Amino acid sequence: MGALGRQFQQDGFLVLPGFCTPADCDQLMQRAAGLSASFDYSGQASIFQTNEQSRTSDDYFLASGENISFFFEKDAFDQQGQLLQPVEKSFNKIGHALHDLDPVFNDFSHQPQLGALAAELGLMHHVIIQSMFIFKHARIGGIVDLHQDASFLYTEPASCTGFWFALEDAHASNGCLWARPGGHLTSLRQRFYRLPGGGTAMETLDPTPLSDKGMIPLEVEKGTCIVLHGLLPHYSLPNISGKSRQAYTLHTIDSRYHYPADNWLQRTSLPVRGFGAALV
Ligand code: FE2
Repeated sequence: MGALGRQFQQDGFLVLPGFCTPADCDQLMQRAAGLSASFDYSGQASIFQTNEQSRTSDDYFLASGENISFFFEKDAFDQQGQLLQPVEKSFNKIGHALHDLDPVFNDFSHQPQLGALAAELGLMHHVIIQSMFIFKHARIGGIVDLHQDASFLYTEPASCTGFWFALEDAHASNGCLWARPGGHLTSLRQRFYRLPGGGTAMETLDPTPLSDKGMIPLEVEKGTCIVLHGLLPHYSLPNISGKSRQAYTLHTIDSRYHYPADNWLQRTSLPVRGFGAALV
């Protein structure tokens, strides 16, 4: 393991400015905007507005590990269920198989530079289990509560590693990530899983609350890659500024480790690929 790997093990995150070009960032944002514009809101409205909202939302969410799904900001609707702004400005994120199903995101996610970084960090057996495009739109981009990514992509032992790409400058004012160097040297607190009868729940593994003490804003420029250890507590605040804070993320796990059958994200129809694997 090289110097980068040692720093990652020590801090629980790495900040790599200039990892991708501004043109790459623009291409991903344009692609996400295009996907948003093609979203058929009329056809999907029932998913978000029926009396069975939680169940249907759960079904839509649970299927999203193998497709390209759209998730609204919590505050996108008024009390009558009407959107408060254009639909393409109402999404929180797109997920969770962009890296497999969309050619632009596939190319970005499997670029050789990323495989080389993973290898440098000793992640030779890691595969990409999830991708997300996060909009964090101006003024409505919501809070992401303090959490550990390994809660949502659980393996035994823990192996989740995230790659977070700033597609625009991220500052405290528009909702950048917050974390504490060394914060990953702790236990996993919770695990998110599928209930046998449908829906999801959180299992408490360690009742000790996560602390946000000593956390610092990870203010980065467009094109920066932040690598996040799966046990690193992190959060982001609402975007109250007039500028969006778009990001693309990949989450990876070690393919050699046990991945429980009741993890929320299950892949049955799509293969799970490593960084360098070709699309099949
Ligand atoms: Fe996260």
